[in-house]
Amino acid sequence: MTATAYDIKDSSLAPAGADRIEWALTEMPVLRTLMSRFADERPLDGVRIAACLHVTAETANLARVLVKGGAEVALCASNPLSTQDDVAAALALTYDVPVFAHRGDDHDSYYRRLAAALDVRPQITIDDGADLVNQLHTARRELLDGIMGGTEETTTGVIRLRAMAADGALEYPVIAVNDADTKHLFDNRYGTGQSVLDSILRATNILIAGKVFVVCGYGWCGRGVAMRALGMGAKVIVTEVEPVRAIEATMDGFQVMPLIEAIPHADIVITVTGDKHVVDRHHLQAAKDGCIVANAGHFDVEINLKALKEMASGVSRPRPHVDEYLLNGGRKLRVLGEGRLVNLAAAEGHPPAVMDMSFANQALGAVHVRQNHNTLQKQVYSMPTDIDREVARLKLASMGIGIDVLTPEQEKYLKSWQEGT
Ligand code: ADE
Repeated sequence: MTATAYDIKDSSLAPAGADRIEWALTEMPVLRTLMSRFADERPLDGVRIAACLHVTAETANLARVLVKGGAEVALCASNPLSTQDDVAAALALTYDVPVFAHRGDDHDSYYRRLAAALDVRPQITIDDGADLVNQLHTARRELLDGIMGGTEETTTGVIRLRAMAADGALEYPVIAVNDADTKHLFDNRYGTGQSVLDSILRATNILIAGKVFVVCGYGWCGRGVAMRALGMGAKVIVTEVEPVRAIEATMDGFQVMPLIEAIPHADIVITVTGDKHVVDRHHLQAAKDGCIVANAGHFDVEINLKALKEMASGVSRPRPHVDEYLLNGGRKLRVLGEGRLVNLAAAEGHPPAVMDMSFANQALGAVHVRQNHNTLQKQVYSMPTDIDREVARLKLASMGIGIDVLTPEQEKYLKSWQEGT
């Protein structure tokens, strides 16, 4: 691989991209610590890494950490609409990281650029949605031999990988970064919560207060979206298929009901489930005029857009990121970000302060793979707890927050069973 091999949309955007990357770094203290630690210790010296991530300012800073650690990194996009072209340009031209990503790719160009990143012949893969793993297990099996292991960022990717492992199909070990508490409790909840609301506002400029806001799915991401919509004064309804989560949503103060009952009242519907056709044809038929529908799950399968296109007599784009479908009787339904991850399509994704912890886990996860690949099995591993705790300690230190420590007496008490009532 040569540092000049890259595929970006517009090199003139590099200075603006570099400014945004440096700005993001000011909110990423844990990555800054890892940058200097990695520069001293070079824990990834000579390791070839292919990373398939949203090409954002935050991801750029992860790439810089990996490079400081001695890795050769090739980066491609994990979603056709999430690439920030200025960041891609800066990474390629200012930071010498080979990037293969254009915002607005179609299916073929998306996979062509992913294949270009795989041409680095990676020893470690870093995925957000398991696309590299998928390609390596199908189109590029000849590369499997050289792989030490991988890491996976997102809930959807981890679900897929666990299904592969259960089928005996997974050919190398993968660390589920999403399982780290310092990832999903903050990135999924506060990151998705804030960035989804941010993207709706940027795309539509509507007032949230007083609106009926339906959140489909009450996982960590759904919890975050519901919490932030409530905070802005929306009347929030949660839909779920999992009974315990439905009780939790109820006791958190939300109305819970099936989507078909909620949608006639909805001003906004957000899917965050990881499953397909959550908003299906019959839901779209029942939605009221002007309803805004968007998706914050990893893949663009949650809204049945095919059905919507069949139902519509026309479509227009009144604002960027808003497609307005004209239905029978003059009803209009508005889809944001073409049904793709709305927070990355119509805004900038999660803020750097949460990606700081997610990507610290990624960087340390890659080092863990490098150091332990000889003993790891072809399985999905949860993030080692000591790495998770280390990331939390670094974040707390950066925030100037101290915490108590157990006394020897307390440690002993927690390990004992003799002391009773
Ligand atoms: N996923 C969600 N937000 C992100 C961001 N800002 N950068 C990279 N991946 C993300």
